[in-house]
Amino acid sequence: MTLIGLAYNQKPEPTELASPLPEGGRQEDGELARPDEEPPSKIVDLTIAALIARDEFAEWDAPATIAAVVSALSPLGKVVRLEANEEFPERLRQARPDIVFNIAEGFRGVNREAHVPAICEFYGIPYTGSDPFTLTLCLDKARAKETLAFHGIPTPRFAVVAELNEIESRTADLKLPLFVKPLHEGSSKGITDRNLCWDRSQLLAQAKLLLEHYRQPGLVEEYLPGEEFTCAVLGNGDEATVLPIVGMIFEALPTGALPIYGFDAKFVWDRPENPLDIFQCPARITSELRASIERVTLDAFRVLGCRDWARIDVRLDAAGTPNVLEVNPLPGILPDPADNSCMPKAARAAGIGYEELIQSCLKFGAARQGVILDHTRARTRAAANEPALASGLT
Ligand SMILES: Nc1ncnc2c1ncn2[C@@H]1O[C@H](COP(=O)(O)OP(=O)(O)O)[C@@H](O)[C@H]1O
Ligand SMILES: [Mg+2]
Repeated sequence: MTLIGLAYNQKPEPTELASPLPEGGRQEDGELARPDEEPPSKIVDLTIAALIARDEFAEWDAPATIAAVVSALSPLGKVVRLEANEEFPERLRQARPDIVFNIAEGFRGVNREAHVPAICEFYGIPYTGSDPFTLTLCLDKARAKETLAFHGIPTPRFAVVAELNEIESRTADLKLPLFVKPLHEGSSKGITDRNLCWDRSQLLAQAKLLLEHYRQPGLVEEYLPGEEFTCAVLGNGDEATVLPIVGMIFEALPTGALPIYGFDAKFVWDRPENPLDIFQCPARITSELRASIERVTLDAFRVLGCRDWARIDVRLDAAGTPNVLEVNPLPGILPDPADNSCMPKAARAAGIGYEELIQSCLKFGAARQGVILDHTRARTRAAANEPALASGLT
């Protein structure tokens, strides 16, 4: 029987957090202030400590996601859970699975997403998804943008600032308005409406806040005023396919919110019991625009060396040209449709259910590395005789 190791990081229960954020957050003056209806300007007034407390584990997976992935993988082999904590290397060495299904976001430093795949490589154990280099490259948004720019793939002009006193000189050539964000984060950590800066003094203030509290350089980019999309890719090489494009409908955000898919839009205003109707999938756009978004998406996937799957954020500039904002080689995969997770949503629009999505990623990874999976009754694109996604499926 094929042994499949599942490498993951599990979100701590709220009660396990050292300094949990009181329900609804706390404002600078110490008064509790939540609410859903509260205008965005109030919400971004959270103290930065509270901001960090609420987003520290945003990238990690909830028990329900891990359980759903285990259940999806089970028809293809025996699944052993390998939490990516300090015992991971030894547990991996002892379990010696035939392949590791990697969804671990890691927990320390700017190479954190690379740790699990690097350890797998050290032991010569096959794993799914991108390699350590690509994972680290994409987690440094500026280095990833350098690669994109070298290959002629549109991405906003930018500067990296590690110290406040270099902001003025480094960003002098960039055109206002500017968008500032942490260099090495994902899951909208540190992204609020305040990151959009209309003048240099606002940029200085917001950059100061991010530099101090995320303790990493800031990425300052020219702001793209156009529509935004996120594009899921499944497969490899010539067979890599863009699933139906997800469009963002920013009108669905609370009144006064800017057209930014930030932390509040992702986690605060969008709740399973009251989902935010922000996505349209497939996005209703012209076939020309769809083709050009797909082209830029697949080009980015290829030049950054992504494998098996990824999700790529694209936004239009003032001229309507699709630009790549960032590449996520470890896409979010929340199983409950009410959670509005974009990769499963795009798959569903293509008629690919959650289990089939997870199994497809495993099969693409296994096929690349010559790993034989258990024979299965699991439905796959290949079984459904749909050639677009058939490569790599056994
Ligand atoms: N240069 C930019 N121009 C316009 N909006 C931006 C820009 N950079 C980021 N954003 C907005 O912020 C959101 C989060 O930025 P992103 O780089 O994708 O971070 P994350 O890794 O947290 O998803 C984007 O989805 C977009 O709405
Ligand atoms: Mg993003």
